[in-house]
Amino acid sequence: MSQAKKQVLSPMPQAAPSTDAGTRGNFPQIRMRRGRKTEGIRRLIRETALEPRHLVLPVFVEEELSERTPVGAMPGVYRETETSVVNAAKEAEKEGLGALMLFGVSHHKDHTGSDSMRPGGLLDRMVSRVRDACPDLVIMADLCFCEYTDHGHCGPLDDHGSVINDDTIENIGKQAVIAAQAGADILAPSGMMDGQVAAIRAALDGSGFEETPILAYAAKFASNFYGPFRDAAGCSLKQGDRKTYQMDPANGDEALREVALDIAEGADMVMVKPGLPYLDIIRRVKDEFAMPTFAYNVSGEYAMLKFAAEAGVLDYDKTMMEMLLSFRRAGADGILTYASLAAARILQQ
Ligand code: PBG
Repeated sequence: MSQAKKQVLSPMPQAAPSTDAGTRGNFPQIRMRRGRKTEGIRRLIRETALEPRHLVLPVFVEEELSERTPVGAMPGVYRETETSVVNAAKEAEKEGLGALMLFGVSHHKDHTGSDSMRPGGLLDRMVSRVRDACPDLVIMADLCFCEYTDHGHCGPLDDHGSVINDDTIENIGKQAVIAAQAGADILAPSGMMDGQVAAIRAALDGSGFEETPILAYAAKFASNFYGPFRDAAGCSLKQGDRKTYQMDPANGDEALREVALDIAEGADMVMVKPGLPYLDIIRRVKDEFAMPTFAYNVSGEYAMLKFAAEAGVLDYDKTMMEMLLSFRRAGADGILTYASLAAARILQQ
């Protein structure tokens, strides 16, 4: 136990004799409220800080869309067109956000998700588009196939409907090179296939992208909180679920093994997803590995707050800021959140 902790927890030193008849004046000697007395004092000793650079904005880009379209399940979130995504990117840059994370909404789906492995496909176009418009903005590309497959799973399926791991990681290497060539700064594989980080690293290194970092969705749980995302990205499952590749929400130790493996395979940064119900995992990962650690404040977490606020039972801005601060306190260096722009605007005030 630290010296400071011992001192606080040891029995109270005898209070000086008081002229008072009662206990008043003798106790309590330690008053925690002294540190909370004024906003000035609170501000002075505040432990955790949230800045716009800690925030990463996920953006959906739909091809063949004539104008940006609101996502019903996520008030305030849009599917951008291949043109309007540039405005969103410029806005993110203006507000000083840490990065943008791009998700494609494909109209060219097939069994393997081949459009995302093709020069000139949606992944290539959307990354190039933002790269050209915002040379200094940090662009993350989500690497996965579920937005590009006709069955909605994160890779090609075998006869029993199970995702074929080793075909998927071979493909994800191709996807990674397409995104890197288009100008993505950071590649973020989210499919939870075994060996995917090593496969991406090898593919990148073989194509001259030795210095492109990988942000691994290392501990990604099979969560019900992804519901609104699947609506937004148009990647609902035709059949089955993702429990054979995403993690069981009951498992914390296993999350550490997942993270350790991704780091061993070459991950430069790691992510825990979802965020709010998994703050314990974020803390354990940060303490155990001391890696740049990200939390994904997912679509369902965003929707919960939005709809509660719309019903008039919560103050949206205040609860949202408290939530984002909690991720930082839990150990997250960065937070992927649909509330990034709103939070940055509040922080700039
Ligand atoms: C794709 C992917 C998903 C999310 C991010 N990347 C959906 C899923 O795994 O089903 C969810 C993000 C969110 O809910 O905000 N693999």
